[in-house]
Amino acid sequence: MSIEPILATLFADTATLHESGVSVGGVDLRELATRYGTPLFVYDEETLRARCREAAGAFDDGVAFASKSFLCGAMARLAFEEGLCVDVATGGELDIVLRSGVPASRVIMHGNNKSREEIAHALAAGVHRLVVDNFDEIEQLRQMVNPEQPLNALVRVTPGVEAHTHEYVRTGQEDTKFGFSVSNGDARRAITELRAIPGLRLHGVHAHIGSQIFEVDGFRESMSVLAAFTRDDDFDELCIGGGLGVAYVAGESAPSINEWAESIRDAAREGGLRADLRILAEPGRAIVAQAGVTIYSVGVVKPVTQRIYMAVDGGMSDNPRPVLYGSGYEAFDVDLPLAPRPQVVRLVGKHCESGDVLIDEAYLPAQTKAGSLVATPVTGAYGYSMASNYNRVPRPAVVFVRDGQAHEVLRRETFDDLARLEV
Ligand SMILES: Cc1ncc(COP(=O)(O)O)c(C=O)c1O
Repeated sequence: MSIEPILATLFADTATLHESGVSVGGVDLRELATRYGTPLFVYDEETLRARCREAAGAFDDGVAFASKSFLCGAMARLAFEEGLCVDVATGGELDIVLRSGVPASRVIMHGNNKSREEIAHALAAGVHRLVVDNFDEIEQLRQMVNPEQPLNALVRVTPGVEAHTHEYVRTGQEDTKFGFSVSNGDARRAITELRAIPGLRLHGVHAHIGSQIFEVDGFRESMSVLAAFTRDDDFDELCIGGGLGVAYVAGESAPSINEWAESIRDAAREGGLRADLRILAEPGRAIVAQAGVTIYSVGVVKPVTQRIYMAVDGGMSDNPRPVLYGSGYEAFDVDLPLAPRPQVVRLVGKHCESGDVLIDEAYLPAQTKAGSLVATPVTGAYGYSMASNYNRVPRPAVVFVRDGQAHEVLRRETFDDLARLEV
């Protein structure tokens, strides 16, 4: 990060930065903050749609949007309209997606600890695929699958690949709670057991090596393990999971969805897989991260001996990633996006935690002060979806913008919403 003005490449596709403001989807960010209040999540619908279309074109039919990265009815419908399936990991995600009108036949059900009710819901709804994670689940399926109502399934395996990313979001290694190990024989035994369940059609294997991965090597390695493992199986599809990284700050760069898919397809070919095998993935972050920006109002600005603390009206409740993973972000002043940023502050939230830090060293214009609007780009993924009500802070509203119009897709929570669970 530097005192240079913020890089335009961190913004959504339709964003334009000018002397006195930023517009996204043809709508001015300051206007949105005035209309909907802050903190506010703003998503550029064009960017969301473009990334979905890119994924749908780069992989085969059945490629999914990982809804854990950002889910609401509008997002699920958008992904479906653009040709993607929607991947869910819990009964709650399944419920929201089905309520949104996305047909179950386009939903992929994950979960490392699916309850009996969640499995029953997925079976009754008729999901496109259920991804089987463990032997307890196989036992449940043995009892629950109705041969008259076939279940289409994949089996999640751990390829033994250590992705280059934060250990909390690394999942392809042997020591993990997810999936069946290829190397110790569990994955093979799971396939045999699943194939013996009447009414269960096993279409192939699934692996997910982690998240926020910049290098394609880990995915290629994973694909070659899967290729070697399934070469003699008569599977018709293979899913490489999600995990493609995005650039959050200046100096980072990530492959595009097309480049990612191409390298995975190359690895599949090199691994000797049949050309007609469907190659699938389920990106989340790469679809939604760059489309989103969060606008905050600056409250207190407090110089202490070592630094300046600048506090905004949100924090770890709307973006827990810095606290969870030490993730970096950049900030800009909504009214001065092209200004140099010589003022170095620690951008913090309003929560009762010293760790409630959004940006450890944020660079902002000298003019940014209490009352300014400060925004963080690339906050479309794992912000709202991981948001909490810590300190009973209501969750922000979410707005989609397109062609000069704004549509509120999730309204701001109220104190009444927070009180509604009291009995
Ligand atoms: C099984 C699975 N698929 C897909 C994803 C989406 O990952 P990303 O948002 O990094 O693309 C995740 C994320 O944790 C996951 O666990």
